[in-house]
Amino acid sequence: MIEGVQKIKFEIHGDHRGSLIAIENFKEIPFVVKRLYYIFNTSENVVRGKHAHKKLQQMVICMSGSCDFMVDNGDEKEVIHLDNNHEGLYINKPIWREMSKFSSDCVLVVLASDIYDTEDYIYSYDEFVTYKRSVNK
Ligand code: TYD
Repeated sequence: MIEGVQKIKFEIHGDHRGSLIAIENFKEIPFVVKRLYYIFNTSENVVRGKHAHKKLQQMVICMSGSCDFMVDNGDEKEVIHLDNNHEGLYINKPIWREMSKFSSDCVLVVLASDIYDTEDYIYSYDEFVTYKRSVNK
C-alpha cells in the first residue's frame, strides 16, 4: 500500500447471535475521533472526494456494499476496492482521494480526527502536488 495509507483489520466479536466490531480511540484507531460522517445513496457513475487534507487523519470503513477508493500521495496512486466492514482504510498523510464505482447499497463511514474545517482542504490537484513538495522539504 502507498505511503500514508494503511489497511487496518478489526477484530470481529462473534457468537451464535451474530457479529460485533468495536473501535476505540488509540486502540483500533490511532487517533481521537472528533467527527463521524457517512456517504450513502450515491448515484452510479459519480466520483466523490477529489480533494486532499493537510492535517486530518481519517479511517474509512465500507459498512455495506462496495466502492473503489483511489489514493494518490503525489508520487504513486492505488485503487483500493472497499467491500467489507471489518477493515478500515487509515489515511494519515496528505493524500489525494477519489471515490467511485459505488454500489447502490454502499454506505461509507468516515471517522475523522477533527471537526469539519474547509481550511484543511486542498481542492486542486496541482496545489496538492505543490503542497506535498513544500512539506517534504
Ligand atoms: P463533500 O466534501 O463534497 O464530500 P466528499 O467527501 O464526497 O468530497 O461534502 C458534501 C457536503 O457536505 C458539502 O456541502 C460539505 C458538507 N460536509 C459537512 O457539512 N460536514 C462534513 O464533515 C463533511 C465531510 C461535509
